[in-house]
Amino acid sequence: MSAEPTLVVSKIRSGTVIDHIPAGKALDILRILGITGREGLRIAIIMNVESKKMGRKDIIKIEGKRLSPQDLDIIALVAPTATVNIIEDFKVIEKHKVSIPNEIVGILVCPNPTCMSNKKGEPIKSRFRVISRDPLRLQCEYCGTIVSGEEVPKLVTRQI
Ligand code: CTP
Ligand code: ZN
Repeated sequence: MSAEPTLVVSKIRSGTVIDHIPAGKALDILRILGITGREGLRIAIIMNVESKKMGRKDIIKIEGKRLSPQDLDIIALVAPTATVNIIEDFKVIEKHKVSIPNEIVGILVCPNPTCMSNKKGEPIKSRFRVISRDPLRLQCEYCGTIVSGEEVPKLVTRQI
C-alpha cells in the first residue's frame, strides 16, 4: 500500500495525453505549445504524482487537440522522457516516445541579438544543432552561440 492515496483523473474521450513528463515541467510544456487555457479546451494538468518508472512525474491531458511533429520535437527539448498518447474513443491509438532531433529549425530565437537569424526584415529561420543530449546543449549554426536546456523554454518563438 502506498503512503499517499492515488490522484485519480478521468480518462479522456479523444485528444492527447502527454505522459512521463519530468516532475515540475508541465507548465513549461503548455507554455511552449502556446496553450494558455483561454482556447476553451478541456485540460487536466497533473503534477508531481507517483510514477513507477520516474519517481515523480507530470501528465497533461488535452481533450480535442492533436499535436504536430514540430510540437513533439519541442516537447522533447524540455521533457525528453515524455510519451505522447493519441486517444480516440477512449482508446490509446498511437503512442509516441519523443526524441530530440539533430537539428532544431525555426523554433528557437537565438539569444545573441547580433545573430544573422535576428536581423529585422530578413526572413531567415533560426537553426540550432544539438551538440549534447544529456545535458542538453544546442549551438546556433549562424553565430555559434551555445544554449543550454534550461534556456530553451524562454527561447521558443511562440512562447506565451
Ligand atoms: N489515458 C487517458 N484517457 C484514455 C486513455 C489513456 O487519459 N482514454 C491516459 C492514461 O491515464 C495514461 C496515458 O493516457 O496516463 C497512457 O495510457 P496507457 O497507454 O493505457 O497507459 P500505460 O500503459 O500506463 O502507458 P505507458 O506504457 O506509456 O506507461
Ligand atoms: Zn545565433
